[in-house]
Amino acid sequence: MSKRAVRKLEDPVLRKKAKNVEKIDPLLLHTMEDMLETMYESIGVGLAGPQIGISKRTVVIDIGEGPVKLINPKIISKEGSQIGLEGCLSIPGIYGDVDRAEKVTLKAQNEKGEIIKIEAEGFMARVIQHELDHLDGVLFIDKATNIRKAEEIEETESQDSEQPKSVI
Ligand code: CO
Repeated sequence: MSKRAVRKLEDPVLRKKAKNVEKIDPLLLHTMEDMLETMYESIGVGLAGPQIGISKRTVVIDIGEGPVKLINPKIISKEGSQIGLEGCLSIPGIYGDVDRAEKVTLKAQNEKGEIIKIEAEGFMARVIQHELDHLDGVLFIDKATNIRKAEEIEETESQDSEQPKSVI
């Protein structure tokens, strides 16, 4: 595995709609391993293909419960809402409050190409929604309110939050 450069805000690849993965081959699987390594090295909890310049519908996530790799993920239902703090590896040092669904159900393919169904809630649901937005060229700052720098986040806010200052 090797770490790749994370694309930043002004990079046009972040605004492109990523293409469906048609073929799950060794190159794709290798790329997804690199995505995981890049995410861990960057101290993030999620990363989407476009963030390393690969405009394909691929996402990796690890919120501390082990790695999850998603190919062609699609949310099939959403429920409730939650407002919470988000950051992004492609927009370093900037945070904002984003309104997301509290629960999501999604379908995706795993590394073998099998269809998997995942139900998630709370922070995991937030990360999934953030990453899937990346696949459509949407960034959290498009949806966030109260956008602010890391140093402007109040102590009390961090203590209250389940995952303070998490970079997705
Ligand atoms: Co992000």
